[in-house]
Amino acid sequence: MSKIAFEGQKYETESNESVLDCLTRHGVSVKSSCKAGVCQSCMMVAHEGEPPEKSQAGLKSVLKAQNYFLACACVPKSDIHVGLPDKNLVEIETTIQAVDLLNPEVVRLRLVRPENYEYYPGQYLTLTNPHDVSRSYSIASVPSEENYIELHIRRVPDGQMSGWAHTEAKAGDTVHISQSHGECFYIQDDPQQPLLLIGTGCGLAPLYGIIREALRQGHSGPIHLYHGSRTLSGQLTSNGLYLVDELRALEQSCDHFFYHPCISRGHVPENMRQGRANDMALEDHKSLTGWSVYLCGQEDMVKTTKTKAYLAGANLQDIYADPFIVTPSC
Ligand SMILES: Cc1cc2nc3c(=O)[nH]c(=O)nc-3n(C[C@H](O)[C@H](O)[C@H](O)COP(=O)(O)OP(=O)(O)OC[C@H]3O[C@@H](n4cnc5c(N)ncnc54)[C@H](O)[C@@H]3O)c2cc1C
Ligand code: FES
Repeated sequence: MSKIAFEGQKYETESNESVLDCLTRHGVSVKSSCKAGVCQSCMMVAHEGEPPEKSQAGLKSVLKAQNYFLACACVPKSDIHVGLPDKNLVEIETTIQAVDLLNPEVVRLRLVRPENYEYYPGQYLTLTNPHDVSRSYSIASVPSEENYIELHIRRVPDGQMSGWAHTEAKAGDTVHISQSHGECFYIQDDPQQPLLLIGTGCGLAPLYGIIREALRQGHSGPIHLYHGSRTLSGQLTSNGLYLVDELRALEQSCDHFFYHPCISRGHVPENMRQGRANDMALEDHKSLTGWSVYLCGQEDMVKTTKTKAYLAGANLQDIYADPFIVTPSC
């Protein structure tokens, strides 16, 4: 058991308890989202004591050097004195440039890209809305071509952030974003390597950025995109396809990009596939030896498909996976 000193009070941890869980159990409000060490919204700083290495995984070295850590991943081994992070270091102010619906369930937010804000298409950031709710979203824009940051947000029932994005958010609103994170982006090792991209729902967001960046960099190998939805058009329990016309136009203009929209339930038009995107993709491409594979969206789909892609011959270092870990309901 360790003691956590925070804002003049001391709190004792239970066995194997994280700083986040301990403070929350004592009624202290600390910002958090994924509780899995991914979104970085629970970042704190250790004024005294060493945060364990695991709690600094994924942090930029400048933050690690200043003893920043993720409270959800920090089970202290000894007493520790912690504080909230310097907001200017972890949150960047920006403005919503445009809000529009891509289908009844997916809203597109375009944010003004702050000066010197750098990212690779396919990475994600943590968005904090005016109600101080923070959640992670993948970036669909391409920095060298677009002067905004584009996010696609699917509405989930009773969702705090997605509810705000669909009903309240408007151009001109001030929001905050984190620096970009994540390893799921295009790296041009071999421009002829075949690429397989599989996404469900808003898993299309990072893939849309990755595909356009790969083409911009002159990728010449085949690029297959499988985008899946339960039904064709969105309702609150499914998600619906979106950007279909844009992806078809891209397919028309590029002879090595192949778009496979997949619907797993209900009516399926002739020019779409019936079944789950991951099943269709692995059925079409039985051997993935030599391929790069990108998997984004629903957590279970990403995890199981990662294993199957590996068993089909893809090298683990060529599989880029971005599971959309959701905030566990309390
Ligand atoms: C790396 C990363 C990238 C992500 N990228 C995107 C993205 O590009 N677009 C996007 O829309 N989301 C993305 N997410 C998910 C996103 O961070 C939020 O979890 C999601 O928008 C729901 O937030 P909320 O505040 O609306 O719902 P909450 O208020 O957090 O949740 C409300 C209720 O809905 C449940 N719930 C939350 N999310 C889902 C879900 N997806 N399906 C079913 N039930 C759910 C919760 O368990 C809870 O019971 C990403 C997550 C991660 C970790
Ligand atoms: S990283 Fe701690 S809540 Fe997401």
